[in-house]
Amino acid sequence: MDKIVIDGGKRLRGEVRVSGAKNAALPILCSAILTGGENTFQNVPVLRDIRTMARLLRSMGAGVEGERTVHIDTTKLDRLEAGYELVKTMRASVLVLGPLVARYGQARVSLPGGCAIGARPIDQHLKGLEAMGAKIRLSHGYVEARAKRLHGARIVCDLVTVTGTENLMMAATLAKGRTVLENAAREPEVEELARVLNKMGARIEGAGTSAITIEGVDTLHPIEHAIIPDRIEAGTFMVAAAVTKGDVLLKDCLPEHLDAVIAKLRSAGAEITAQDGGLRVRARQDLKPVDITTQPYPGFPTDMQAQFMVLAAVALGQSVITETIFENRYMHVQELARMGADIHVDGRTSIVRGVPRLMGTTVMASDLRASAALVLAGLVAEGETEVRRVYHMDRGYERMEKKLEKLGARIRRAEDAEA
Ligand code: EPZ
Repeated sequence: MDKIVIDGGKRLRGEVRVSGAKNAALPILCSAILTGGENTFQNVPVLRDIRTMARLLRSMGAGVEGERTVHIDTTKLDRLEAGYELVKTMRASVLVLGPLVARYGQARVSLPGGCAIGARPIDQHLKGLEAMGAKIRLSHGYVEARAKRLHGARIVCDLVTVTGTENLMMAATLAKGRTVLENAAREPEVEELARVLNKMGARIEGAGTSAITIEGVDTLHPIEHAIIPDRIEAGTFMVAAAVTKGDVLLKDCLPEHLDAVIAKLRSAGAEITAQDGGLRVRARQDLKPVDITTQPYPGFPTDMQAQFMVLAAVALGQSVITETIFENRYMHVQELARMGADIHVDGRTSIVRGVPRLMGTTVMASDLRASAALVLAGLVAEGETEVRRVYHMDRGYERMEKKLEKLGARIRRAEDAEA
């Protein structure tokens, strides 16, 4: 098992390329189940979660070749199941459910179970499939779904769910008739999935809004497609530039996906300008406190909450951060406190009082975005920081320490002998 070792205090400078979006690539790889034949996806990030998804698709009988450019052949799937061993390592595995029921009329998918950041049930996914005529049975920890052919339906989600919207949108593409998804998620990754499905021959309108209409078709065909950049990876590097008072140019990112993040960084005092087809982030003085409330897109992303908590921890003054999406997404707080941060959590709200400096020490990553936040804290801390359990980070960040090293950080990966 690896750890990341950081000697803090260096200003980040230079250029960094943003990789393809994990949370777009995962549903898009699953959408290949709908077509048969061979799909080719480019700009796929090289991540642990993508490898897990490839293993899942192979276990179902798909041919999956390549990294970054991935060829997936789903002509003949012979095992319409996502087993517990894979689903427990990556909840996004549930995204095979909609496509399998839509194309093969049946699926057996392990219930994901709890997760470090919250209970994360999938009741909305199942409610929507039932509305489209699927017979759903929960048996021995598995969802068993069956339907001769799904039919169109009007589905009002009780709450905004990203993968729920994606699963139901994929299922509706091959359903008989029209489906309307209300209170749908508006994330750029949902819009990107709809773009891919329409390229495959689907008839989807309204993706990116809270009402998505899908006219079912009989078949879809394979395609070639390059995946959008990762807005959360981009946001993470923007915070890294700001907290180290650095000057970084992000290449291959889409500023229009980052409005809420850019607005908060600017109010903290960072300068953000479009330059050379990218985004330049500079911070030349101490940062100001920021109040943040996480919301579904286009609100402030929960996947950036932990990183901004580091910014607030070193800003001049008090910030209030409210996490409204997940009930247990403050696992990084105690680790930051070990580095000298002054954070008081009361339910979903945390009061962060900025301190003059953080101090390097050994800290433990608990989930993907918490691990990124601890690395950012190590970049600004005095002395050496060791971030352990970085397998969490590898799930969603491609060669993060290499990219930071190229920006001048004193950072390295090492074998964690104590793990
Ligand atoms: C997606 O997770 C992302 N994952 C998450 O990113 C992200 O944090 C989340 O959306 C919110 O933006 C992927 O896209 C693979 P939700 P998802 O369903 O779809 C509750 C990262 O760091 N809910 O939108 O699983 C749920 O418990 C990851 O990259 C139900 O109650 O999140 C949560 O409180 C972490 N019933 C809220 O809704 C349901 O059926 C939003 O969850 C579904 C969700």
